[in-house]
Formats: sequence, C-alpha cells, structure tokens
Amino acid sequence: MTNANSFSREEIARPNSEQVVIFDTTLRDGEQSPGASMTFEEKLAVADLLDQMGVDIIEAGFPVTSEGDFEAVSAIAKRMKRAGVAGLARAASKDIDRCAEAVRHALHPRIHLFISTSPLHMKYKLQKEPEQVLEMIAASVARARNLVGDVEWSAEDGTRSEIDFLCRCVETAIKAGATTINIPDTVGYAVPDEYQSLFETVRARVPDSDKAIFSVHCHNDLGLAVANTLAGVKGGARQIECTINGLGERAGNAAMEEVVMALRVRGDALAYHTNIDATMLTRVSKLVSAVSSFPVQYNKAIVGRNAFAHESGIHQDGMLKNAQTYEIMTPDSVGVSKTSLVMGKHSGRHAFKEKLKELGYELGENALEDAFVRFKDLADRKKIVYDEDLIALVDDEIVNAHDRIKLVALTVIAGTKGPQSAALTLDFDGEQKTHQATGNGPVDAIFNAILALAPHNAVLELYQVHAVTKGTDAQAEVSVRLAEDGKSVTAKGADPDTLVASARAYIAALNKLMVKRGKSRPDVLTG
Ligand code: KIV
Ligand code: ZN
Repeated sequence: MTNANSFSREEIARPNSEQVVIFDTTLRDGEQSPGASMTFEEKLAVADLLDQMGVDIIEAGFPVTSEGDFEAVSAIAKRMKRAGVAGLARAASKDIDRCAEAVRHALHPRIHLFISTSPLHMKYKLQKEPEQVLEMIAASVARARNLVGDVEWSAEDGTRSEIDFLCRCVETAIKAGATTINIPDTVGYAVPDEYQSLFETVRARVPDSDKAIFSVHCHNDLGLAVANTLAGVKGGARQIECTINGLGERAGNAAMEEVVMALRVRGDALAYHTNIDATMLTRVSKLVSAVSSFPVQYNKAIVGRNAFAHESGIHQDGMLKNAQTYEIMTPDSVGVSKTSLVMGKHSGRHAFKEKLKELGYELGENALEDAFVRFKDLADRKKIVYDEDLIALVDDEIVNAHDRIKLVALTVIAGTKGPQSAALTLDFDGEQKTHQATGNGPVDAIFNAILALAPHNAVLELYQVHAVTKGTDAQAEVSVRLAEDGKSVTAKGADPDTLVASARAYIAALNKLMVKRGKSRPDVLTG
C-alpha cells in the first residue's frame, strides 16, 4: 500500500512500467449482449472515439455472420487512423476468407480465430475429438496467416480446458503462425490466482511462447472480470480484451474504464500502462450507453453518475478540506468536466458549439444545425440546460440521424377519464402519415397509433423511464426493448415530455429493427 504522504491523484510517469495492448471488443462481444445491437452509423461513431482515445486494436465484428457485420467491419477498417482492426472468425475457410476481405483495408488488419478447447465444449458443442481440434487449429491459423500478417488465436473456454491439451493447442497455434494467443475465461469461472498461474504455466511450458503476445479475455459471471484481467497481466499477458461499460455476453466483459484506471491509479502495485487517453472514458461510456441503450448503473466504478458524488456530511466535509480524503482519482482525469459555460435560452450558436466541444463532440455542419434547433426548443421549455441534457440531446441526434421513420407530431389526451387517445404523424422516408388511436393509458394509445402506421409483430419487452437531471422540468429518457423472432433491439428517446420521449424511443427501436431485418419499406415491418 502507498503511504498517505506519497499518495497522488495525478498520473505518475513510472519508468519501469510495461505497455499493455488494449483490444476493445465493444462492437463484437459487447454487441452480442441481447438487445444491444447497434446500427452501422452507431458502430462508426463508437469506433471513431475508440480510435481517438488510443485503443490499439478494435474488434469491429464477426464478418461471416451477416452482411451488416461485414459492411461495418470493412467500413471501420478503412476509417481508423491509428487503431488496428480485427474481425472474428471460426476455424472454417469461409469465415477466414470473409474476415480477411473485411479487414484488408485496415492500417493493421487482424484475423481473430477461435475454437473451443475444453472437454465439455469439444464433446457437446463441436462434437469433435481433441486430435481433430488440433488439426483444425493448425489449418485455420495457417490459412489466416496466408491472408494477413497478424493472427490472433483464442482457446474458447480456455479456463475449463485440460492444461496439457491447452498447451498443445497453444503450441500448435504458434507453430502455424499465430502472433497473439488469447486464453479467455469464456464463462467467467476463474478466480484471480488461478488465472494468473494459468498464464505462467502455459508460457513456461510451451516452446517458443515468447514468439506470441498472450492475451486475457474475461467474462464477469462472478463479478471477477477486472480482477482476473489484472491477474492475467501479472501472469505475463500483455494484451487486455475489454469493452466500454463492461458490455458483453451475459454479465459482460471486463470494463475498459476500470482496467485502465486501475493500472493508472495503482501503478505502484501494477507496473503497466496503456495508450488510452483516460479523459475520454466518460464521453465514450455515454455514447456506448446511448447507442446500445444499456444504462450505466449509478454506482458503476469510474463512469457511474455517483462515481464522484459525495452526499454524507462527513464525506462532504472531508472533500472540502482535501479532496484526496475521499477521491482516489480526479473527476477530470476520466473526463468528468466541470462546467464552464452555462447554457440557457439566450445562448447562441457559437456558445453551443463551444459547449459541445467542451463535452467532447465535434459535429458536422448539418448535425450541428439540427442539434442547435433542438437545443433552442429545449431551452425554451427548461430553465437550465444541464450538460446531461445536451449529452442526451446530441446522442439522440447522432444515434437517430439516419432513421427512416421520424416523429413529426404528437397530441395526447390523457387523464382520469378514458379512453386516452393519441394523434400521431410519422414521416416514412419523406412521406407523412397520420393516425389517431385510443388505449389503456396514454402510452398504450401512442404505441397503438405507431402500430397502426407501421404494422409489425415485435413484442414490447421493456419500457423504462428515468429523469436525465433533477427538477420537475427534467428531460425524461425512455428505453424501449422490442423482440421479434428471438432477436431483440433496445433504443432510447429523450424529451422534457415523457410521452414524446416514449414515442421517440419506440420509433427508434422500430428503426433499429428495420436495419436488423434489412427491410426496404419502412411502413411495412411485418412479414
Ligand atoms: O468469450 C470468449 O471466449 C470469446 C471468444 C470468441 C474470444 O468471446
Ligand atoms: Zn467473450
């Protein structure tokens, strides 16, 4: 432990610290979370921020799984200015060839191959004998290496694999040309000491293990993903696979913001560093939350809204005397900005643009103009426009910029005497349609009107409202999840009027559903 006198909340340049590669899989493992699917434009917006903040490798998708995934990986590969771009592939020729095609324009293209190596997965999932799996590893890595120079190989369910067999698999992959070896804790089963020694053992036993970089990939089923990640690094791994906000299959992956800040704040105990600009963590967390529609829990480490809040008298008193009493890092070190420009209805375009810059947004001319119009409208209805209001508004603008169904007008009659009714006008690719519907409450009436204008079979699985800021004039942020044919999409809508926010959220979810289904007629969502 550091003693109190040497304690510092600022970054310390540590001469002997080693660099760890950050491999972000928000757009692949993160997007695999049920309901977290992102549109093409949303993926590009997230990738741009990841690139800007210094992520070394962005896993942009699983190209063989759909045309949409292929297109997104390919566009991200062409666009990234610094980061390498990886695509996921199984040990099958069609996966590998498609992946190579998708990443080939990247500055640093990578194919990420995986196959299960645990007895359970080999027997039930793959229905293959261990010797067959070894042959598949050799053939798939060799094929991938013929197409790109950088090949990562992952032992799926690595932590439940037999150590002798795992070592043979790793040896085979390195011999065939793998440059990174990932040993995932696929089901979040490992505990830190065990995960650390797994890396130590494999690295010690496999010949030529120093020819590859070892990588950690931890799931959070027991809440140990970040602890296991750091233990794996202590065991010799030099690549960390993680996601923003810990998004990912089931309980998620190790959260990038937590790993990065643990290494930064506790560099005395963990002598490793990353290339990440930590001041962008808050910004990217908000964007990922907006596009995935997965809220960030209030008490989430680093990026939760309470992460730097102090309410008890004793804590507030301590903070006023010396902030180090209750803060181990400064809010600004993770990009929580102190407001310098206060926005209201008299603020002009220039102040608005500067404010967005302060919050980390650089919008193009058209998007800026649209956002400014919405800001003016909001400022007319709300005394104080908080940073959170602007973030909700701009994220909404970025996320929904390419929507084909848009809300034009909504009038609702609500109250104690039913039936409640909603008159709604929607724009479908430039053509406006209006419908009036009744319902069991105003939200039901709105959703019935949407259903009449855009018929669909999707089922409403979640409807949730929360206030963006304090005050009775706060904007409402509504989340809606729609499910159809075993697939689900989640979307958000924000507005000071909860009913308008509800309509926006439902319409945004329909737009996402349309992208997922590849529909060409926005007003015909059935079939
Ligand atoms: O969790 C896992 O095993 C994975 C692999 C595909 C790397 O996501
Ligand atoms: Zn995973």
